[in-house]
Amino acid sequence: MEKKELDWGSIGFNYRPTDFRFVANYKDGAWDEGTLSQDANVVMNECAGVLQYAQTCFEGLKAYTTEDGKVVCFRPDLNAARMADSCERLEMPVYPEDKFVEAVVKTVKANLAYVPPYGSGATLYIRPYMFASSPVIGVKAADEYQFRVFVSPVGPYFQEGAKPIVIRVCDFDRAAPHGTGHIKAGLNYAMSLYAISDAHRQGFEENMYLDAATRTKVEETGGANFIFITKDGKLVTPKSDSILPSITRRSLMYVAEHYLGMEVEHREVYFDEVKDFVECGLCGTAAVISPVGKIVDHGKEICFASGMEEMGPITKKLYDTLTGIQMGHIEAPEGWIRVID
Ligand code: PLP
Ligand code: COI
Repeated sequence: MEKKELDWGSIGFNYRPTDFRFVANYKDGAWDEGTLSQDANVVMNECAGVLQYAQTCFEGLKAYTTEDGKVVCFRPDLNAARMADSCERLEMPVYPEDKFVEAVVKTVKANLAYVPPYGSGATLYIRPYMFASSPVIGVKAADEYQFRVFVSPVGPYFQEGAKPIVIRVCDFDRAAPHGTGHIKAGLNYAMSLYAISDAHRQGFEENMYLDAATRTKVEETGGANFIFITKDGKLVTPKSDSILPSITRRSLMYVAEHYLGMEVEHREVYFDEVKDFVECGLCGTAAVISPVGKIVDHGKEICFASGMEEMGPITKKLYDTLTGIQMGHIEAPEGWIRVID
């Protein structure tokens, strides 16, 4: 397979159209077979449900070239299941989970030339998504939907790469109690755009959202869950009904316990205890694990012992083990790796 001529080491986290995307349509109560298309544009009615009432959800996962040259993706079945949950909460028709995985595999296969080579630091980001395509003017669910999957080669989500970032405690809320924070609805991200732009204007890389009801507990950032390391080497990660159940976080909990012999606590985390942790990181498909060096709370700084130069030692071990599993040089738990070709 002839690879595209891209400067893989410096592509950044950007959208770059590739040759093929998967498109399936839902009409009269059923999904069609779906097909690969070379058309990157979507044409729809001006009153489509997605345009008027934001009826849309998405997923994100990655394909990797392993050390021995295979192309694989990581736990796509969990993305399929999470998208089904998102669809149910948004009154959208579920795209069958086995078909979701098939569509991901097909799309990656059709774009193999864009899968970054092993060791390049880049990966192929996969974006499955669904939206209401038929017109609605009264507030109600649409009758017709489109499910699509596109891929784009990407570099690190944060410019710093593996260097610790500085974030702030955010005064805006991302998700309400009993709302939609636990699903991957486009509307959650629209909610966070003002907050992230404001954070950037103030010189911060990300926002730490607190729980909307009491503003005492750590939730997540706009695009990743938190992990913390205690002085005695435990992994602690926030539990909340209003954060996205990150597949990376769930995988790291398993890796910490079963590969690294660490104790793991998945529980409510009070902001007051954050200063007592020694390492902090953001985890997600795009973020992988991005270390946090400092959290600023209205001028008060929490500086982690791991500092601003590199990842803390335990975060690094988690990072190396997880990416080792994804890149194929550490044996994966049963069912985690889907080989594409
Ligand atoms: N939290 C939010 C709000 C996200 O958008 C993401 C990204 O998908 C995550 C967490 C991390 O989830 P995952 O590890 O499944 O990519
Ligand atoms: C992902 O990690 O896949 C996400 O969807 C996060 C997004 C902010 C890029």
